[in-house]
Amino acid sequence: MATFADRLGGFPRWVTEAYWTETHGSVFTAPAHPAAFRRAVATARSLIPRVAQLTGASPTDVRKWLGELRGARLAQEIRARCPEASGMGSPNAELLYVFVRAVRPRVIVETGVELGVSSAYFLQGLRDNNSGELWSIDLPTIGPSGRLNQEGRLDRSHVGSVDQVGKAIPERLRPRWHLSLGDARELLPSLDAPSPWDIFFHDSDHSRSHMLWEYQTAWPRLRPEGYLLSDDVPDNDAFLTFASSVSGRPFLWLRRGALRKARVAPAAA
Ligand SMILES: C[S@@+](CC[C@H](N)C(=O)[O-])C[C@H]1O[C@@H](n2cnc3c(N)ncnc32)[C@H](O)[C@@H]1O
Repeated sequence: MATFADRLGGFPRWVTEAYWTETHGSVFTAPAHPAAFRRAVATARSLIPRVAQLTGASPTDVRKWLGELRGARLAQEIRARCPEASGMGSPNAELLYVFVRAVRPRVIVETGVELGVSSAYFLQGLRDNNSGELWSIDLPTIGPSGRLNQEGRLDRSHVGSVDQVGKAIPERLRPRWHLSLGDARELLPSLDAPSPWDIFFHDSDHSRSHMLWEYQTAWPRLRPEGYLLSDDVPDNDAFLTFASSVSGRPFLWLRRGALRKARVAPAAA
């Protein structure tokens, strides 16, 4: 007999995340929304072919990589070492891993580490590729009251102490990791990650002005056909504004976005 998970097309965690996004997080308090649920299933099902198309991989490869990721039991390892972490096993985290497997980056740069869930997924991808390194920047927010971003909005992501930045990252993945602590505004422009970067991921201060500033700062250091990835894209128009400023076609999934830099036109003969 088909299980509930079978009926969700084999992506129960992905559908849950899509449903959460559809209902703006009111999934536990609002009455069930059948239409939103149908859209969530369709979204979850569309992610593999869409990310395959964006990265130039085949859907078969994407499924294979997801199988390898789940076989590595990274989500369970993170939960065991860091029970307060969240987001493991979500499409947001798993698609970061897929990007790494498909793009085979030499250099990834990310802003916003907190407990290190995104970092762990990037690093697992680098390990499975057996190449590449990750440079992360985080200005730790200590204590549960969080920090006001540049627009005065409260961001509650935090760690208990400075040494907990990246606490979720298993020791076995750390040899490929470089962490710089401080404000991205100060550290990003002169970060010692070798250029060009293959992937840049924004997940720090989600104010419009800061997001735009990070995209504008990282973009020139990305290689042709490199990827700009961002969290919290629906919060404001920064990602879409930046995409249109570089004539890029944004790929959006749940709360995240990706933008591929164009191939440089060949010089005239
Ligand atoms: C949403 S959390 C990152 C979550 C992480 N990427 C993950 O997926 O697990 C945002 C982090 O950015 C940090 N942050 C906020 N403003 C920052 C800034 N200006 N520069 C660097 N980090 C910042 C916060 O302290 C917090 O640790």
